[in-house]
Amino acid sequence: MARITVRNEGASFEMPDNAPFIDYARDNTSIMFGCMKGECGICIITIVKGKENLNPPVHEEWLKLQKMGATPGQRLACQLWVKKGEIEIEY
Ligand code: FES
Repeated sequence: MARITVRNEGASFEMPDNAPFIDYARDNTSIMFGCMKGECGICIITIVKGKENLNPPVHEEWLKLQKMGATPGQRLACQLWVKKGEIEIEY
């Protein structure tokens, strides 16, 4: 099991290893989701800790983040797969 801490909500939840983040974030956080395809950018979050426990961004996500002027720690939550371990985010 992986543990996700949502810093700005002061909450955390567990989810299975090697699973899509969105499947658990929708029930356990108030992160806004829109297109769920990495296109609208509404789900941008900051990875505070544990980026090594996530899938790396694919080229399309990287391009979208660049266009949005994202900082290096930011990702699109709808594009995340959690590998394992501890991850801390804020949004
Ligand atoms: S929900 Fe649209 S980019 Fe994530």
